Amino acid sequence: MCGIFAYLGKKKAQPILLDGLKRLEYRGYDSSGIAIFDGTKIEVVKKKGRISELIHLLGKKQLDGRVGISHTRWATHGIPSDENAHPHFDQLRHLSLVHNGVIENYQLLKQRLINLGHTFQSETDTEVLAHLIGHYYELGKEDDPTARLIQALKRSLKEISGTYGIALIHSEVPNLLVGARRGSPLVLGIGNEEYFLSSDVTAICPYAHKVVYLNDGDLVTISSETFDIQSLNKTNNGFEIRDVDQTEMSASLKGFPHYMLKEIYDQPETIRNAFRGRLIQEEATAKLGGLNMSPQELLRIERIQVIGCGSARHAGIVGEYLIESLAHIPVEVEFSSEFRYKNSPMDRHTVVIAVSQSGETADTLAAVKEAKRKGLKVLGICNRVGSSIARETEGGVFMHAGPEIAVAATKSFTSQVLIFTLLALLLGRLRFLSAREGHEIVEAIEALPDQVAEVIKLDPQVRELAKKYAHSKRFLLFGRQFQYGVALEGALKIKEVSYCSAEGNPSAELKHGIIALIDQFTPSIFLCPKDGVYDKNISNMEEIKARGGPIIAIATEKDDLVSKVADEVLYIPNAQEYLCPILTVIPLQLFAYHLAIILGKDVDKPRNLAKSVTVE
Ligand code: M6R
Repeated sequence: MCGIFAYLGKKKAQPILLDGLKRLEYRGYDSSGIAIFDGTKIEVVKKKGRISELIHLLGKKQLDGRVGISHTRWATHGIPSDENAHPHFDQLRHLSLVHNGVIENYQLLKQRLINLGHTFQSETDTEVLAHLIGHYYELGKEDDPTARLIQALKRSLKEISGTYGIALIHSEVPNLLVGARRGSPLVLGIGNEEYFLSSDVTAICPYAHKVVYLNDGDLVTISSETFDIQSLNKTNNGFEIRDVDQTEMSASLKGFPHYMLKEIYDQPETIRNAFRGRLIQEEATAKLGGLNMSPQELLRIERIQVIGCGSARHAGIVGEYLIESLAHIPVEVEFSSEFRYKNSPMDRHTVVIAVSQSGETADTLAAVKEAKRKGLKVLGICNRVGSSIARETEGGVFMHAGPEIAVAATKSFTSQVLIFTLLALLLGRLRFLSAREGHEIVEAIEALPDQVAEVIKLDPQVRELAKKYAHSKRFLLFGRQFQYGVALEGALKIKEVSYCSAEGNPSAELKHGIIALIDQFTPSIFLCPKDGVYDKNISNMEEIKARGGPIIAIATEKDDLVSKVADEVLYIPNAQEYLCPILTVIPLQLFAYHLAIILGKDVDKPRNLAKSVTVE
């Protein structure tokens, strides 16, 4: 949700800023801009639309300067427009600021500043913060401009409520770049005599060899020689300089036309990465050292509360069925946004598991903090090492899926489900699951990458199906038990990239209302692998067929019965029902992808969305 990229060093800032922005574009893409200090003044160029629009506007123009800030926006306050694009100036145009987050009391502050004679160029909360800092800078008594700027910033940050990740420059403090964060991510990158600030480590990987993941409350001042981090939070204790994890290196398309398709095709590899080194053959179980919990502690878990948003929550729903079936531990899955304000009864034997690809989702992060405040043990399933949720949780499991760039989650979903399978196996083997059952699951997990590769071969067939049904305005998806979360996930994929209406339902709910939607124009997609509820699914399909609704089924190979009921069948390899969700979701990801392409949608950057939702 908005990307910040800033540079201070010996090279020309403009090309580096534009390159950084392109790497961050997935975070928000309704406008972008850069500000560079040229030795006497700050020049700002900004534009509504994609970063390509900004580059087009700049044309051959090269802003001269070695320190600058840049921003790619996902609008919260104010429509996407040139005026609302960042960076924003203060009243005297001495200070320029970029911001990710939401300043909740900006209206109040704005009115105060208007009363003091300030005029505003935009509708944004960010411009108010720029003016506020500028205002306190002018009032400051410190002789040293750096000290005056830092004091003005601290004073302003104390007055605002809400969240921020910011970067700013000031024309009276020429060789200084300043950043601060509260609730929105910011990473400091250290290169050879150059420094970077970025919302995301991926964007600084090509330039920096060391990084510092700033903590909430950190304020960083960077000069050409050095940097300094102070904590505005009394609770923070220091910072850690880490080597850049090269697996975070920005992914390239590797010949694929879109990241979404590339990431779907990545899945045999990402699934393997998720279980590599985590299976113990001899003991027929999984090993998850990152949980930081002894077998005794794992045995004391009486209840699991999963929290997440979007696809991460859907993975949690599949996880609920896995853990309850294999480990007999009650699991509840909640939207992070609901959990944080809900006073659910919890006891000390409840463990909370926060699921998040980015590790930065504001609602999930806030829910994690709330759970910690209640004294609960909180674990994380995250992709991003060093992310806020990964650092906020006591232990957890990393997905090792590599950067996921497309806004629509694909490979992160299957990795999350796989990790839930490992967790269910581990918890199950500590309880009632026999060694024989454990072995079967271990073997089935090891077979998965090849099976996933088989399913991906359905791609041309799925593309034809998408063509055939591309005129449909609405899709209904049905799945039960292990497949219910997959139905929800498939519907979300269709909605977010093709903008068609799609609904995921537990199959048996059909007759409780949904059946009213069935007609010849509304395809139903059924997830019906050979599992414990196979026959029930077939009956539900019959009910739809009897009412003239077209049916697409995703079924297990060699199932002849299903083709008698469904109009179209996509076959997946035979697999244990526990592991089928990882296979059945792939045709849905491909279907959503092709549907979007056929309908001419921007599949990697769907309208109104952003990859990482760092505002509430
Ligand atoms: O980074 P997170 O996993 O916390 O993100 C959660 C959701 O915002 C995310 O899954 C979103 O729903 C995706 N766009 C789904 O494709």
